[in-house]
Amino acid sequence: MMKRIALLGAVALGLGALVAAEPQAQDTPRSVWDGVYTEAQAERGAAAYGQACGKCHGAQLAGLGEAKPLTGPEFLGIWNGLSLGDLYDRARKTMPLDRPASLSRETYADIVAYVLKFNGFPAGGAELDKRSEVLAGISFEAFKPQAAARSATVFASAAADTAADPDPNGAPNPYVADPGFLKMPPGRTMGSTSGVGVDSRGHVWVAERCGANNCAGSRLDPILEFDAQGRFVKAFGAGMLLFPHGLFVDAHDHIWVTDGHSDGTKGAQVLEFDGSGKLLRSLGKPGVAQEGPDTFVEPNAVLVAKDGTIFVADGHTPDKGAARIVKLDAKGRFVKQWGEHGSAPGQMDVPHTLALDSKGRLFVGDRWNNRIEIFDQQGRLLAVWPQFSRPSGIYIDRNDVLYVADSESRTPEGYGHHPGWKRGIRIGSAATGKVTAFIPDTEPNPDKGATSGAEGIWVDGQGVIYGAQVMQRAVVRYTKPR
Ligand code: HEC
Repeated sequence: MMKRIALLGAVALGLGALVAAEPQAQDTPRSVWDGVYTEAQAERGAAAYGQACGKCHGAQLAGLGEAKPLTGPEFLGIWNGLSLGDLYDRARKTMPLDRPASLSRETYADIVAYVLKFNGFPAGGAELDKRSEVLAGISFEAFKPQAAARSATVFASAAADTAADPDPNGAPNPYVADPGFLKMPPGRTMGSTSGVGVDSRGHVWVAERCGANNCAGSRLDPILEFDAQGRFVKAFGAGMLLFPHGLFVDAHDHIWVTDGHSDGTKGAQVLEFDGSGKLLRSLGKPGVAQEGPDTFVEPNAVLVAKDGTIFVADGHTPDKGAARIVKLDAKGRFVKQWGEHGSAPGQMDVPHTLALDSKGRLFVGDRWNNRIEIFDQQGRLLAVWPQFSRPSGIYIDRNDVLYVADSESRTPEGYGHHPGWKRGIRIGSAATGKVTAFIPDTEPNPDKGATSGAEGIWVDGQGVIYGAQVMQRAVVRYTKPR
């Protein structure tokens, strides 16, 4: 008790000192974290965006086809470190693509304000200026740098409180990595991928984004089959998917792929193929990104239980669109859904991945909240596990060994905030929740980018791990030397 009070006192003192020492925003270099626009301005910007930009960049700013996303890791990664003037000029001088510079400077400033708000940067008391030279003095810091000191303090106190807890990155790594195992066919290079699976013959299936990070407009086949030696067998799916995201191999060796984007004519669907590449079924309505019993917003992951029950994890955007698990029967008919945006137990944000253990418990990678939520198949919450870090991919083998890929943990505030946790693959028990091994990601400076290392993960019958990587554009094979 004494210790606890002393600790709280120390933290309060520390924060007090920090607040007092905080410099005035006016005379220091400003960043997008300093409240550089107003709510009213962002509201005007939302309306202008809807009229001038939404048809190409999408209502959720997620990008459509060639029009790049104006939110999320890719967008933040591109603009991080540049100035708001750069973004403003880029928009003003080249956009809308079909009528560049056709809006007033005020309107472009309003739209930039809306983009900032959508991306979670705080509003303030003054409007965003319409002059490029002024905006050039505001840096676009994707990840709140000046808060690092404070979060470090808070984290240090949390760590002190749980001094008995083991190092979250401390488990041994008994694996060796082979990034070159899968041989692409001539003329093709692997694009970004978050979907990999292995069928009953040991063939490896990959859904990649057409040699790039997006299949819109591409004629390439994004679903590839490799044999157990890593030799290319065949590919299919050209023109059917915009943004292949989740891949699942079911008990019949059917290949299920989710499409996380939509462009009004296709996408926002879950497709089931047989091993020959024939499309057997499609769930959701093509191009209709809506939360409904027969439509999906941004389907991240699909899982098919042995009895044919289908689970879909829907919603890739925090606070926007869906944050739900959809349960369908073996015929694809809606049974129920659960989940909503939030961080309370049972709520979720960006349910990115799904797995079932031997007891039929559904593991949901609640990525935005840095935790796994375990539900029964009716949607009742059974447990919340933070110890496997920030889950992008989850796989559970028949012995209930749990494999969890973290591709996002970062120290600074903002996207991926999860100080003290390294990216990589944590391996442990789905029964006890204990972490026993850790394969660290190889990216030397994870704080620089929003993603690295495996997002999608699958493990074959021999315990060989395959990790599908978005940033490195590779599928890495991990084996345990004997
Ligand atoms: C007719 C379709 C279309 C419209 C309308 C449109 N854009 Fe674009 N936008 C694109 C395309 C295509 C690209 C990518 C090609 C390029 O970079 O020029 C793009 C790229 C961008 C980029 C660069 C993204 C990056 O991270 O590199 C920004 C910023 C942008 N648009 C903002 C806007 C804004 C703001 C509006 C509304 C005022 C708008 N766009 C309207 C099609 C459009």
